[in-house]
Amino acid sequence: MSPSSTTLLLLLHLLLLHSATSATTSPPSTTASPPSTTVSPPSTTTTSSTLDPKQVRALQSLYIPTTHDPCTQPSTTCDTATPFRHLLSLRLTNCSDDLSLSTTALSSLSTLTSLTFINCHLPIIHFPTTLSTNLRSLTSINSLQHLSGVFLSRFPNLTDLTISGDNIKASGIHIITSNMKSLTTITLSGANLTGVIPKHWNPKLTHMDFSSNKLNGTIPTSLTLLDSLKLLNLSSNQLTGEIPSSFGDLISLQNLSLSSNSLSGSIPGSISGLSRLTHLDLSSNQFNGTIPRSISEMKGLKYLNLEKNNFHGVMPFNTSFIKSLVVFKINGNENLCYNHSSVLKKLKLGIAACDKHGLPILPPPAADEPSSSVDDMTSGDYDDDGGSDKKKDGGDHGPNKVVLGVAIGLSAVVFLIIFLVILSKCGGRCCCCC
Ligand SMILES: *[C@@H]1O[C@H](CO)[C@@H](O)[C@H](O)[C@H]1NC(C)=O
Ligand SMILES: *[C@@H]1O[C@H](CO)[C@@H](O)[C@H](O)[C@H]1NC(C)=O
Ligand SMILES: *[C@@H]1O[C@H](CO)[C@@H](O)[C@H](O)[C@H]1NC(C)=O
Ligand SMILES: *[C@@H]1O[C@H](CO)[C@@H](O)[C@H](O)[C@H]1NC(C)=O
Ligand SMILES: *[C@@H]1O[C@H](CO)[C@@H](O)[C@H](O)[C@H]1NC(C)=O
Ligand SMILES: *[C@@H]1O[C@H](CO)[C@@H](O)[C@H](O)[C@H]1NC(C)=O
Ligand SMILES: *[C@@H]1O[C@H](CO)[C@@H](O)[C@H](O)[C@H]1NC(C)=O
Ligand SMILES: *[C@@H]1O[C@H](CO)[C@@H](O)[C@H](O)[C@H]1NC(C)=O
Ligand SMILES: *[C@@H]1O[C@H](CO)[C@@H](O)[C@H](O)[C@H]1NC(C)=O
Repeated sequence: MSPSSTTLLLLLHLLLLHSATSATTSPPSTTASPPSTTVSPPSTTTTSSTLDPKQVRALQSLYIPTTHDPCTQPSTTCDTATPFRHLLSLRLTNCSDDLSLSTTALSSLSTLTSLTFINCHLPIIHFPTTLSTNLRSLTSINSLQHLSGVFLSRFPNLTDLTISGDNIKASGIHIITSNMKSLTTITLSGANLTGVIPKHWNPKLTHMDFSSNKLNGTIPTSLTLLDSLKLLNLSSNQLTGEIPSSFGDLISLQNLSLSSNSLSGSIPGSISGLSRLTHLDLSSNQFNGTIPRSISEMKGLKYLNLEKNNFHGVMPFNTSFIKSLVVFKINGNENLCYNHSSVLKKLKLGIAACDKHGLPILPPPAADEPSSSVDDMTSGDYDDDGGSDKKKDGGDHGPNKVVLGVAIGLSAVVFLIIFLVILSKCGGRCCCCC
C-alpha cells in the first residue's frame, strides 16, 4: 500500500471515530433524573459488621436481594453500628406488581431516616410511629396509592417531602404540612390538590413545588419572607390575583415558574432585584402592562418565558440581551411589538414590529407555508430571507449541532471512500483525467 493511501486510511479512521463520539456525547443533561434523596452516607468501608438480621428479612420481603451485603447496594445506606449495622435510607424502584408493604417489615425498618418509592404502585398502610417520627425524607413518585392529607401529616420531622404523580386526598396543603416544622424542601406535584397555598412556612424552606394541581386563591404575600427559597414552582394551577409587590425580597430565588395560571396585573419592577434568578417562566397567564426593562439587567438569567399573556407596548429587550439567553419566548402577546432598530428581525420572536408610535404593525396575512404557526410570524415589512433560523428554542440547540457534526463527518467519509476507490483503481497513476 502506498504511503499516501495509508495516510488517507488513517484520516478515515479518525473521522469515523470523531463522528462516533460526537454522536454519543450529544444531548446535554436533558434526562429528568428523579430527585435523588442523598442522605449523607456514612463511610461504608470502615466496618465489617453485617446488617441486622431483622432488617435483612424485611428487605427480603421487599424482594431486595440480600445475598451480597445489602449495605453496599446503591439503593441503601447504613450506619456503622456493631454488632449489627442498621439501614438509614432505602430506595425502592420499579417494584414488581405483587409487592406489598407489611407492618412487620416497616417496624423492622424503623431506623430509616429516608424512604423513597419510584414507580412502585403500592397501597399505603399504617406506618409505625417510630418509623414515621424518624423519617426525615419521604419520596413517592408514581407510587403510593390512596395517599391522604391525614396520613402525610403523621411525619412531623420531615425535612424533605416529595409526592409526584400520586393523588392526595386532602382539603388543602395545610392539612399535610401544618405540623412539619423542619421542612426545607416540599414537592407536591400532579397530586390533584385543591385549596389555597398556606401562609406559614419554615423560614429555611429552599424548595417549593406545587405544580400541576388545582390550587386556587392568590400567591400569599408571606411567601416573600422566605429568603432562603431557591425554587418556586406554582405552574399549572388555578391561581388568581397579582404577583406580590414584595417579590424582590426572595433574594435566593433561582428558578421561578408561575406559568399556566390565571394571574394578572403587571410584573413588579422589584423582580429584577432577584439577582440569582436563572429561570423565569410567567407564560400562559393574563399578565398585562409593559415589560420592565430592568429584567435585562438580571445577569444570571438564562431562561425567560413571557409568552401567552396580555403585555403591551414596546418589548424592552435588544438583540444582545436576547442572544445571551438560552431560551426566550414572547409570542402570544397581541399588543406587544419590537423596535426594529434594536432587535434583528431574523430572531423571529412571534410578535409584530412597532410603528413609530410604539404600536404593533399588524402582521401580514399568514405566510404561504401551511406549517407556519404563531411562533413563526414576523412582520413582513422586515422579514429577511430567514437564511439562518435564529429562533430561540431551548431543546434544539445541542442536538442540531450534533446532527450537523455527524452529517459533516459522514459526508467527509463518503468522499474519502470514493477518493480511495478511485486511487486504488488508478493504481497510483495520475488520474486527474478519470
Ligand atoms: C426503572 O424503569 C425505567 C423504565 O421502565 C428505567 O428507565 C429505569 O432505569 C429503571 N430503574 C431502575 C433503578 O431499575
Ligand atoms: C420528632 O417529632 C416528635 C414529635 O413531633 C418530637 O417529639 C421528636 O423530638 C422529634 N424527633 C427528632 C429526632 O427530632
Ligand atoms: C381529584 O379530586 C376531585 C375532588 O376535588 C375528585 O372528584 C376527583 O376524582 C379526583 N381526581 C382523581 C383523578 O382522583
Ligand atoms: C377555590 O376552589 C374551591 C372549590 O374547589 C371554592 O370553594 C373556593 O371558593 C375557591 N376559592 C377561591 C379563593 O377562589
Ligand atoms: C415546574 O413544574 C413543571 C411541571 O411539574 C415542570 O415542567 C417545570 O419544568 C418546572 N419548572 C421549574 C422552574 O421548576
Ligand atoms: C391589568 O390587569 C389588572 C387586573 O386584571 C387591571 O386592574 C388593570 O386595569 C389592567 N391594566 C391594563 C393596563 O390593562
Ligand atoms: C433551574 O433553571 C435552570 C435554567 O433554566 C435549569 O437549567 C435548571 O435545570 C433549573 N433547575 C430546576 C431544579 O428546575
Ligand atoms: C442591550 O441591552 C443591554 C441591557 O439593557 C445593555 O446593557 C446593552 O448596552 C444594550 N446593547 C445595545 C447594543 O444596545
Ligand atoms: C426604537 O429605537 C430607536 C433607537 O434606540 C429609538 O430612537 C426609537 O424611539 C425607538 N422606537 C420606539 C417606537 O420605541
